[in-house]
Amino acid sequence: QKTTLEVNTSNTITKIQPTMYGIFFEDINFAADGGLYAEMVKNRSFEFDDPLMGWKQPKSDRHNFNTESGIAVPVQFSKKGTNHNYCRITVKDAKGYEIINEGFRGMGIKSGAKYNLTLKASKEAGNISKIIIQFIGKDNKILGETSIVPTTSDWKEYTAQLIPNATEAKAKLRFTFEGTGTIDLDMISLFPEDTWNNRKNGLRKDLVQLLYDMKPGFLRFPGGCIVEGRTLVERYQWKKTVGQVDDREILVNRWNMEFGHKPTPDYFQSFGLGFYEYFQLSEDIGASPLPILSCGMACQFNTGELVPMDQLDPYVQDAIDLIEFANGSVDTPWGKVRANMGHPKPFNLKFIGVGNEQWGTDYIERYKVFEKAIKAKHPEITIVSGSGPFPEGDYFEYAQSELKKLNAEIIDEHYYKDPKWFRENATRYDNYDRKGPKIFAGEYAAQTVAIASPENKNSWECAFSEAAFMTGMERNAEVVHLTSYAPLFAHEEGWQWTPDMIWFNNLESFGTPNYYVQKLFANNKGTDLLAITKNGKAVTGQNDLFASAVKDVNTKEVIVKVVNTSAKAQDLNIDLKGSKFQSKGTVIMLTSPNTTDENSFASPKKISPKESEYTLKGEKASLSVPAYSVTVLKLKLK
Ligand code: AHR
Repeated sequence: QKTTLEVNTSNTITKIQPTMYGIFFEDINFAADGGLYAEMVKNRSFEFDDPLMGWKQPKSDRHNFNTESGIAVPVQFSKKGTNHNYCRITVKDAKGYEIINEGFRGMGIKSGAKYNLTLKASKEAGNISKIIIQFIGKDNKILGETSIVPTTSDWKEYTAQLIPNATEAKAKLRFTFEGTGTIDLDMISLFPEDTWNNRKNGLRKDLVQLLYDMKPGFLRFPGGCIVEGRTLVERYQWKKTVGQVDDREILVNRWNMEFGHKPTPDYFQSFGLGFYEYFQLSEDIGASPLPILSCGMACQFNTGELVPMDQLDPYVQDAIDLIEFANGSVDTPWGKVRANMGHPKPFNLKFIGVGNEQWGTDYIERYKVFEKAIKAKHPEITIVSGSGPFPEGDYFEYAQSELKKLNAEIIDEHYYKDPKWFRENATRYDNYDRKGPKIFAGEYAAQTVAIASPENKNSWECAFSEAAFMTGMERNAEVVHLTSYAPLFAHEEGWQWTPDMIWFNNLESFGTPNYYVQKLFANNKGTDLLAITKNGKAVTGQNDLFASAVKDVNTKEVIVKVVNTSAKAQDLNIDLKGSKFQSKGTVIMLTSPNTTDENSFASPKKISPKESEYTLKGEKASLSVPAYSVTVLKLKLK
């Protein structure tokens, strides 16, 4: 028996915001350092808490240095400023001495590709005549080689290029010193030449491509809890992440902890991917930048440290200055910093987030101060406020009611729940006040089991349940203005949190079924919301079906999304009232037979959209939706 759904194609309920489907970025799971940020050398400037972490001196362990042939010792030359240490190499034996950088769980190198090395060196004593730099693989097999000749006792930058003769996911970088004497080294950096847009200090191309392909409406950065820090001193301070890369001060990552895959004592933020680069990335992928700033509250899951109210000014000033950095003319102090970094044109910032996932009275009183100051100077900027980590409960209700009283513009809601919750909550926004604050569903992901457990998977059930929920967000586009899955990225061997939208190792990456759901919705968001009903009611789980419909006035299409969460295929009639259509359309289907199915490095596109031509016969579109499927039907208006 066929189910009939009706679409009213001539009546726009509301405009869909261009920001409807976006991206949440946080440097968790090695997402930035060790991931998107293409730097391959870990601890390149010897600034980690253990200044030689990531560096090995072979023929000895680190605590029993190989003093026969040479020694590497960190030197702290300054406690002030941002760059405190360098590494002093003393070579005693002309046969050579070596140090090795292990990369981020190794270095991914591709045969024939170019890798650009830069380092700063200053010759101190004796004559270290040459530094040989090699990629080494298993059993120290040499996979590529280059060298530099240090010439002076002044600090000087040297460059060289490596072209490996083999592909290896876990290469290391070895430095062998010829001659004897003492040489100081700092800022030893290695990037693939082939970065996104071929930028120096660039981003991993395959990972940006996955983001670009989503056509995201916004990019939220830099987190997540990382915004807040475990303590206020360890909060994310955007001003420390712009300007010369060498001058950006390293900070321990809030996710440097025993959580998830394995402890990650080597997780630090180099800030090579800083706020300028986030704005640039937003621009590159066509997304509206959405920075989130500390509101003077450290992560409430950690210390919950609070800045006293009479000391909040610098935090507020950071927000005001950020608007100037993004949008100010080149004649303003912060606009000038942006211009000097290479972007005289404004970044067109429209949103700013005050606090990440804060809750309670402490948040509301701080939010009020930010709101007053930002609006006084920049009424054109829309403020995003937080409502805590849970989508219900006392704290959530308190935040919602207080923020409503304050006429907050957009409230960020987070939900990490089981798949059933997502299906059952597809109606969540049906009764939200159309005149109240708008919603940013800023972090959500269905969880098969507890967060961060290796058993917590990016299963197909999670993905199609999110899709069911997303039809509910789309149907409520009048209230829901921004949405993003979280977290975004995870390194196969460096993760703290599961599930995640995109998995990668040092060479490869793949989108999960959840990624393809996000991409399908974002690529087909349309411009105008239409009603799709069954017997006059929104389709929110009847026969395990969920549906939404939009029109795209630019492409002149009507787009219907149907999610079938049942174990049975279903036949549908879609009655398209109010418009005439061309007979040829497109149907895109995302499906897999088992709820536990996943994508993997071995089978990266096992669950991925399949597109085919659709022929419309008459006024009703007939569609057969497989068990456990997400279907997008696109029909061209005549
Ligand atoms: O997405 C992972 C974490 O979940 C974020 O850092 C935080 O905002 C939330 O608790």
